[in-house]
Parts: sequence; structure tokens; C-alpha cells
Amino acid sequence: MNVPLVDLHIQYESIAEEIAVATREVMERGDFILGRAVGAFEEEFADFCDVKHVVGVATGTDALHLGMLACGIGPGDEVITAANSFIASASAISFTGATPVFADINPDTYNIDPGSVEKAITSHTKAVMPVHLYGQPADMDAIVKLARRHNLRIIEDASQAHGAEWNGKRVGSFGDVTAFSFYPGKNLGAYGDGGAAATNNPEIAEKLKMLRNYGQSKKYHHDFLAFNSRLDTLQAAILRVKLRRMNAWNEQRRQAALIYNRILTSLDISPPSVAKDAQSVYHLYVIRSPQRDALVERLNERGVGAGVHYPISIPQQKAYASLRYKLGDFPHAEKACSEVLSLPMFPEITEKQIEYVCDTLADILIAGNFVIGVSNRPEQRIAA
Ligand SMILES: Cc1ncc(COP(=O)(O)O)c(C=O)c1O
Repeated sequence: MNVPLVDLHIQYESIAEEIAVATREVMERGDFILGRAVGAFEEEFADFCDVKHVVGVATGTDALHLGMLACGIGPGDEVITAANSFIASASAISFTGATPVFADINPDTYNIDPGSVEKAITSHTKAVMPVHLYGQPADMDAIVKLARRHNLRIIEDASQAHGAEWNGKRVGSFGDVTAFSFYPGKNLGAYGDGGAAATNNPEIAEKLKMLRNYGQSKKYHHDFLAFNSRLDTLQAAILRVKLRRMNAWNEQRRQAALIYNRILTSLDISPPSVAKDAQSVYHLYVIRSPQRDALVERLNERGVGAGVHYPISIPQQKAYASLRYKLGDFPHAEKACSEVLSLPMFPEITEKQIEYVCDTLADILIAGNFVIGVSNRPEQRIAA
């Protein structure tokens, strides 16, 4: 059996007819740039996130970048974010001219640790950027509280968490701005690049609309220099079709996670921890092992598409060498980066496929005397 990390084809087949109709409509109308589907999608996605405004942009990275610019973040400012995200969380901060400052993570949830954020606050801190990693919301109660106390903006990076909830509230409704990515493999993925910024603030929404469209207030009137970063109309039409199924697809991911949890627990392997106030949308299903690289290799050899998200913490990336962070500055994030592995996860994954993944994992562990588990708890050794 072959179980890919993500299977986009099976999902496409289930919606192919509707995609054909939606994309044909755009081509027949010819409104390829900021066409009708963009506005319609923005309204529908705002409803989905329970926010007032959504502005479609070209990528998730741009949603973060332009979102921070719309909040007035720039040179001389510091923005605190998690040390273990995809590089774009931090690079978007750098693109505004501000400096990314990193915080360590909670080793159970892999999300930013509010205590570590608090320690990183200086007189230059303008914002905190929680990343809802792997589909699980960060601790938004603590983050909202500390942001209020220190008068900081909140920029949520929800690129991996469309529809996730903290205390019954959807991500996107906590921050001044929230960024979503529609990269094809995301829970809500386009058939190319796409992104959106969500906000409850009408001024930020207006600024975002200008920032994505050359700083135009009306055609050929440019109030400031800005970008060409518009959500493509064809992608918006595709996203509208997929959005109708988002809640159901997220529920299918949660059901798949329950099956994984049950089987892995029976094998003495720790499933991912979800905070009691969080409802995860399982963008990724992540376990850990100190012998991660060898384990991933063996899984891949046996047809299980395991992956690593992400192998190097952002402060340890060459691109950020100039910030002079040292190994050991973010011990929980660094350990996670060396141990985490993602097992196949997508809404259509079957129970049989999950059983195959878990059986294969158990076989490899037994044959190889691998250690697997959560490093901050006693590890479970599956002996040969
Ligand atoms: C956490 C996180 N932030 C930002 C991004 C950037 O999104 P995009 O690739 O759409 O620019 C991604 C995904 O790629 C992501 O996973």
C-alpha cells in the first residue's frame, strides 16, 4: 500500500464538476483581476471566520506582510513570533523593516509559549504573532491578555488553521489582522498560490485593499507606493467551491485523528496533545522520535509519506544568522525541530490507510529498536 502525506487528487475528483463550472464562469465573464468571485469569496470567508472583513491577496506571506504594514508596523519595531514556524512567519516581519524576535514553545502543543513571549517584550515591541501550528490554535486567552497589558497588536498566523477554534471562537477573530495561506496543501487550498488577511477593523481592511493594489484609492490615483498582490479571480472561484465543504473536511480530519489516536495509544505511542480549550483542524498529524530522520526514511521506503515540519528552527536558519541566536536559546523549539514527524493526513484518508501507517510504524519500531514519544515525558521504548 502507498499512503501519501497529502492526497490532493482524490479531493479534486470529488469536486471536479463544480470546479469546471466555477472556472468556466470566470473565463466567460473575463473578470480575471479582482473579479466578482474575489469579492464573493471574501464575504463568504469572512462569515466562515466570523470576522467583518477579509481581503484576498496573492499568498499567505503577503497576508502577513501587508497585514503588518496596515497596522503601521515598520523599521525600528520588534514583532515576537514562534521559533518553530515556517520561515514565512518571520520573513514577513523582516519585509516590513521590523525585526523578528523569537519565543520558545510549549513542548506539548508546539505553539508559542506566552511566558516566553512576555520575557521577550522590550520598549520596541509592537506586536505578537502567534502561529496556529499544525492546525491547533495557540493559547489565545493568554496572548490576548498579555497584548492588552503591553499594548501590543496581535497578528495571527492562521496559515495552517482555517476553521480552528479556541474556546469556541474561530481563529482570525482574535487578532488585529489574521493571515491565511491558500497554498494547495493547506486545509483550504487553491490550485496555485493564494492568501487572505482577515480583520474586524474597517480602516485596516481599507488599507489592505490599497496595499494589495498599488496604493490606489481610485483608478490611477496612487496615494502611496505599494504592491501588486491580489487574490487571482480563478483561484477565488476555486476557493468558493472548496469553502462550502470546509467544515465537513475539517471534521473528517478530526475523525481521522481520533482513529490515529486510538491505534497509536494501543501501541504505546503518544498521540499529539491538544489543549483543552483548542479545537484543532489537524492540518498535520505530528508525533515525535529522537531517531526521527531514520524513522522517516524507513516509513518512506515502505510507502508511508511521512514528512518533517520543520527540521530547523527559524533562529537557526542561515537567513537569520545576522540575528546571532545560539543553539540552546529556544530549547523546546529546537528539540521539536529535531524530533517531529508528520504522518499522512487529509480529509479523505481511510481507516485502512491509517491502519497501514500505524502497522508499518509499529513494525519499524520493533525491528529497529527505535524510541518514540514525547521528550518532556518518560519515553516509551519499544524493544526488539
Ligand atoms: C505557518 C505558515 N505561515 C506562512 C505561510 C506562508 O504562506 P504562503 O506559502 O501562502 O505564502 C505558510 C505556508 O506556506 C505557513 O505554513
